[in-house]
Amino acid sequence: MNLKIALLPGDGIGPEVIQQAIKVLDAVAEKYKHTFEYKKASVGAIAIDETGDPLPDKTLKICAESDAILFGAIGDPKYDNNPSAKVRPEQGLLKLRKSLGLFANIRPLTTYDDLIHKSNLKPEVIRGTNFVIYRELTSGIYFGKKELSEDGKEAFDTCKYTIEEIDRITHLAFKAAQVRRKKLTLVDKSNVLETSRLWRKRVAEISKSYSNVLVDYLFVDNAAMQLILNPTQFDVILTENMFGDILSDEASVISGSIGLLASASIGTNSAMFEPIHGSFPQAKGKNIANPLAAILSAAMLLDHFELYDEAEDIRIAVEKSIELNITTPDLNSTNHFSTTNVGNFLSDFILDDENTFYNK
Ligand code: IPM
Ligand code: MN
Repeated sequence: MNLKIALLPGDGIGPEVIQQAIKVLDAVAEKYKHTFEYKKASVGAIAIDETGDPLPDKTLKICAESDAILFGAIGDPKYDNNPSAKVRPEQGLLKLRKSLGLFANIRPLTTYDDLIHKSNLKPEVIRGTNFVIYRELTSGIYFGKKELSEDGKEAFDTCKYTIEEIDRITHLAFKAAQVRRKKLTLVDKSNVLETSRLWRKRVAEISKSYSNVLVDYLFVDNAAMQLILNPTQFDVILTENMFGDILSDEASVISGSIGLLASASIGTNSAMFEPIHGSFPQAKGKNIANPLAAILSAAMLLDHFELYDEAEDIRIAVEKSIELNITTPDLNSTNHFSTTNVGNFLSDFILDDENTFYNK
């Protein structure tokens, strides 16, 4: 298969982790005789530095002309404590999601036996956890009307949803549940919010067409608690934009590190794959960032094009690296490996057909 992949490494550790994802994709391409053509483009703080715009037109054009986008990370501390900044790196990512119509953000969470003891949560609580968050990505409070009054004494953000926006991701989430454990949990705040009541109404209505899927409803405050109290109860979690953002960071604690969590952002005509972690500026250039989230995002990219064996190869290699403790400091306090070490191990492992060396 020939795939055109836009690379948007972005800020902080983004370029380092994307480099490892490319290494791994190249190993897959070599093994399975695919051609992956990459085109690099800038986004985020680095794009502001270069052009004044966090999402230059050129970047958007490259993305629109590609089959898929591999995204690194976004954000720079120089903007974080400057509430009056007019242009912010995050606007690049938000505009990209909106312009490409990437309405469904899919964030799977699984546990690795060899990491169970690394989580801050008790092994008996998290063992066997395997769920996926379907986060609505192009609407809600992120994209509603917002304003700061002229005197600077008042501000508002509006949360708005249309039934079209709710329905399209709800169908995707139900379809995912059908091929998983057939349970869907809608997380909302329908005891308070009108938008949440609309979500609940639509999900109840749509659930009638997916009668083999069990549906339940949780208020987001309770869901935040349930996620760490009893995470194995979840299969597919469906939620709006901001709740999904918050809950997915919380959920990463279950797997042991946010450096493990991959995501896919799917639209009608485009698809973007990105680790859920941020730009981790403290680690920039130190070769210590965990590349697994970016690499597992590349695996999701392959899944998207139905290259299932290829994606599975990556996941097996990742499991092996975890089993052998070939991991970065976030997962490994002794004898840790660098970002590049991990990428090298995975690409070697994928290309080592008989797995002669590493299985010994
Ligand atoms: C994420 C990030 C983004 C979000 C930021 C960088 C705008 O936190 O992808 O989860 O809030 O969606
Ligand atoms: Mn987030």
